[in-house]
Amino acid sequence: MGVECPNRGVRMDRRRMLALATAATVTAPLASRAAKESLVDGVQLGQVAKGRNFAVATVHEDATNAALKIFQDGGNAADAAVAAALMLAVVDGYNSGIGGGCFVLARGADGRMLAIDGRETAPGLASPKMFFRDGKADPKLSQTGALASGVPGAVAAYKQLSEELGTGRWKMAAELAADRAAEGFEISAGCAARLRAEATELAQFEGSRKLFFGGDNEVLKAGDRLVQADLATTLRNIAVDGGQSFYEGRVADLVDRWMVENGGLLRREDFSRYRARLRKPVESSFREHRVYGFPPPSSGGIHVAQILSMLERFDLRSMYENRPADYYHVVAEAMRLAFADRAVFLGDPSFADVPMGLLDSDYLKKRSERIELERRIPIVSAGAPPGIGRDLFGRLPRHTTHLTTADEAGNWIAITATVNTTFGSKVVVPGTGIIMNNQMDDFSIAPGVANAFGLVGSEANAPAPGKRPLSSMSPTIVLKDGLPVLTCGAAGGPRIITATTQILLGQLALGLSVENAMAAPRVHHQWKPDSLYVENELAAETVEQLKEWGHQVEARGALGTAQALAKVDESFVAVGESRLPGVAGAV
Ligand code: DON
Repeated sequence: MGVECPNRGVRMDRRRMLALATAATVTAPLASRAAKESLVDGVQLGQVAKGRNFAVATVHEDATNAALKIFQDGGNAADAAVAAALMLAVVDGYNSGIGGGCFVLARGADGRMLAIDGRETAPGLASPKMFFRDGKADPKLSQTGALASGVPGAVAAYKQLSEELGTGRWKMAAELAADRAAEGFEISAGCAARLRAEATELAQFEGSRKLFFGGDNEVLKAGDRLVQADLATTLRNIAVDGGQSFYEGRVADLVDRWMVENGGLLRREDFSRYRARLRKPVESSFREHRVYGFPPPSSGGIHVAQILSMLERFDLRSMYENRPADYYHVVAEAMRLAFADRAVFLGDPSFADVPMGLLDSDYLKKRSERIELERRIPIVSAGAPPGIGRDLFGRLPRHTTHLTTADEAGNWIAITATVNTTFGSKVVVPGTGIIMNNQMDDFSIAPGVANAFGLVGSEANAPAPGKRPLSSMSPTIVLKDGLPVLTCGAAGGPRIITATTQILLGQLALGLSVENAMAAPRVHHQWKPDSLYVENELAAETVEQLKEWGHQVEARGALGTAQALAKVDESFVAVGESRLPGVAGAV
């Protein structure tokens, strides 16, 4: 049940709505979070939340609250998404932040579909062999320290979202985050565990030591307060100047100085040259739905579309209901075929020839015909899509965390943002409070050398000056009869692609509710390594069957963490990831 909001943009009405919405709109409240401070009076949060006027799902209650607060103030889903994303930079900085990048997929109330690319760019001094030492590629260099970072794109992308679809609440959004950074917050058990796990690497860098270590030279523990004064200053400057101080002022200068002193390649000019890019979303169909995804330099949109298309000929629902091993087998085979293409063809389209033929329906039909029931394809390699070297993504108009918002006016926003692996490069640049990304590790640092996610790539994804590393981030929006009905996306490296696809399949092919599509056990195959990962919850008999058919099965905890939002009978249903759990809010 929700509350009508006949008068969009009126502050008082929203306040009342939020108060009225309290118990009626929320299912499955998170008891463990009830004691925490809320930014919005009278609104309960839950892992699932329902409402007619606005909905949001993020990984953190502060971010969900920031989005609700902006909506309460008269902002729309775009403003709210920006506020949530900037808040995550403060309270969830080891996953995403202003030292990282993002992809924003958005559908405006006017029907416009936008793909805003805030992916990092390699420094102008980057070179294909920049991660080689003594003739050998060294992944440590692309993962930790001064060489690991590209120019962070998140601030530029959020600002562009705010300008394209927002209602002028940039300053308020950035100030909410700055206030949180200045007043501090209690370190959660999850954050404390990550700090412990990364302590040795964090300790190498002065800025990180200062921020994350206490007087006893130990990392902060659960319950300790993390105050980020430098980050607060950086955010306050951004609130006022929209990012100029970041790309052309104080932050660019401080990063430049630190990089010069520590053997890094990022320079002030790399920052001043940075632009978020407006790209054309990847558009495909699955049965009666139009599926919009993110184009290169993400591989997400292409491979979500490929996997869905290869599976379209199967009666997936009957498989899932009668013999789930059949379902998981064909899904895994489609994943293998897609990831083989990824390793060969995908990279930044401004540098690599990414064939549009990867989405050609005849090509995908032929690829799909390789999938057999009850038998694993013995050897999978990349296909031969039509138009190689001719019809390319790069020739189109140029223009890890996932969060989502939607409002009653029809704005739907899906943002996946990341510093790459936990705490990114582990470097906090002194004076900025910014955790720098290690997105350079998403380049293929040498043919056949796996990155932190075990992914291999080709020349198409080799480092080069100004180039954007290939990503798996897959913010997705689904339309039916011209109107948005579902959005989702995930964190988890390559598992982003497969988690997102399985949630889409759950809703669009299996007839599951969005809650159940999110909860259903997931599998993951990325071609190399040649293993089929399955979540522990997958039924033992299904796992046994998959092994018999030749899959090398490995059990895992969570395969990706996602947020989703659907429109069901005129109401929004926002769903936070139960594997975390994420936090949804709605009015
Ligand atoms: O862009 C990518 O594909 C990766 N940098 C995403 C990293 C990620 O999801 C880490 N989270 N678990």
